[in-house]
Amino acid sequence: MSTVTKPLLETVVGRRQPRPPLWIMRQAGRYLPEYRQTRASADGFLDLCYTPQLASEVTLQPLRRFDLDAAILFSDILVIPDALGQTVSFSPGEGPLLDPVSAKTIGALKPERVLDHLAPVLETLSRVKGALAPDKTMIGFCGAPWTVATYMIGGRGSTDQAAARMFALSEPQAFASLIDILVEASIDYLVAQFQAGADVVQIFESWALNLDEPAFRSQVIEPNRRIVEGVRARIPDAPIIGFPRGAAGLIADYAAQTGVNTVGLDYATPAGFADKALPSSLTVQGNLDPLRVVAGGAQMEERARHIISAFAGRPHIFNLGHGIVPQTPIAHVERLIDIVRNG
Ligand code: CP3
Repeated sequence: MSTVTKPLLETVVGRRQPRPPLWIMRQAGRYLPEYRQTRASADGFLDLCYTPQLASEVTLQPLRRFDLDAAILFSDILVIPDALGQTVSFSPGEGPLLDPVSAKTIGALKPERVLDHLAPVLETLSRVKGALAPDKTMIGFCGAPWTVATYMIGGRGSTDQAAARMFALSEPQAFASLIDILVEASIDYLVAQFQAGADVVQIFESWALNLDEPAFRSQVIEPNRRIVEGVRARIPDAPIIGFPRGAAGLIADYAAQTGVNTVGLDYATPAGFADKALPSSLTVQGNLDPLRVVAGGAQMEERARHIISAFAGRPHIFNLGHGIVPQTPIAHVERLIDIVRNG
């Protein structure tokens, strides 16, 4: 048995480290030339996700270049609708495009084929786990039901998720059955990820913003809670990070009611507010604005140091407050990591 500890995993479960460990949301991707090269050798984005040899290579690329504490499985939150039988495509420049579900077509989704369809993604995860140094944490993930539903209903990304919000209000029964399908598929998928070697999983609720309080409670908190409970019924004490982007004033209720070990903060959340609102034993993750890393220089360095000192009294994982963007200069990422490591 190895006695090497994983600082990031330790922090997720509440043990503060002398310096915050770090990873970067969307750390594998287009800002890396080696990613763009591998991506060009695959037929399409989903083929890249479903080809373990390429997807494991892409997962490891950021760790070869940077001093990071974790690898995150290379896949996408939209492999779940694809596995359910919805038509999903990624067109360069346009983002994801889906054939929208309706109240009539939700019944035609095929939950029973999800795990078979996602077998290559699970194989990627075990390959990466096998290649990872023992002090590195393997992160698996899924999209949260509401966030995935916004794409399934709207057919594409949007700034206000109006199609999905309207569907939830006008077709409450169909909407509830879609959320049920996604909760069950997410539980099976995350359990399978732990069995394939994930040390931690993150639930990406990227579109938790734009919801009023009752909608946030029923569409975000409740499905996230059911996933945490369902995963832990099969993997007791499973370490889980929740990232409810836009939770704002409901962040403390999200953390307490879902039971996640760590709450990811978006960059709009004031550090002082989060530190007061959340129990001091709860781990936080975040929350530098990704555009500060694009711009780089003194403003990035000051803000990163501010975030580290604001959370110095509790377990903290340094991260961005949303995914890194394609135009990010690599030298700025290197400088940021140096600050997190060395002050
Ligand atoms: O390092 C990693 O984090 C890699 C794995 C990963 C991807 N997507 C790869 C990807 C993860 C964890 C995601 C999550 C994801 N996907 C989210 C939640 C996180 C967030 O940023 O809010 C969401 C909302 C999606 C849906 C999605 N996938 C969109 C909106 C897009 C297009 C816009 C964009 O960011 O590129 C994708 C495509 C996608 N997913 C790419 C990558 C590397 C780019 C596709 C390409 O290479 O052409």
